[in-house]
Amino acid sequence: MKVGRTVVSAEEIDAKLAEMGARITEDYRGKDVLMVGILKGAFMVMADLARHVDLPVEFDFMAVSSYGYATQTSGVVRILKDLDREIAGRHVLIVEDIVDSGLTLNYLIKNLRVRQPASLELAALLLKDGLQRVTLDVRYIGFEIPPDFVVGYGLDFEEKYRNLPFVAVMEEE
Ligand code: PRP
Repeated sequence: MKVGRTVVSAEEIDAKLAEMGARITEDYRGKDVLMVGILKGAFMVMADLARHVDLPVEFDFMAVSSYGYATQTSGVVRILKDLDREIAGRHVLIVEDIVDSGLTLNYLIKNLRVRQPASLELAALLLKDGLQRVTLDVRYIGFEIPPDFVVGYGLDFEEKYRNLPFVAVMEEE
């Protein structure tokens, strides 16, 4: 396998995150927002998006993994690292690199909602067209992309390519 054609360039990502950051700044003005990144994929978008948010943001992270050995998300999510702090009464914005089946976020929303945050919204850089198995209300979406296997900007193939500053498809050699 090799990295093939670029789906979203570094320039496009930066411009989009600036737009999303400006909207978040506007929407959360006067509120303390807690951005929750879902590891590992979200580390890149979290860092770059947050730099476009002009508010006193706080950060926390969760690490999750699909349960078992299935190659596709089963919808059963195991929490490898939970939030460091309580979120009751907080304005929580979950940040993801990509929504594929939507099952990971669907689980996380249910899990976090029980903890009674003041608000709970989603931001994702990428949304794969037509693959969602659940209806998710993602408030901030960067790009809708075709359902190809993509890497870069936090997304991996066998743990590699997360550091690419753009998003590209993986192709056969
Ligand atoms: C990816 C991505 C989302 C999830 C989306 O994470 O970061 O968390 O898959 O898929 P879904 O919409 O079908 O649930 P992955 O499990 O690959 O872990 P990683 O972020 O550590 O690479």
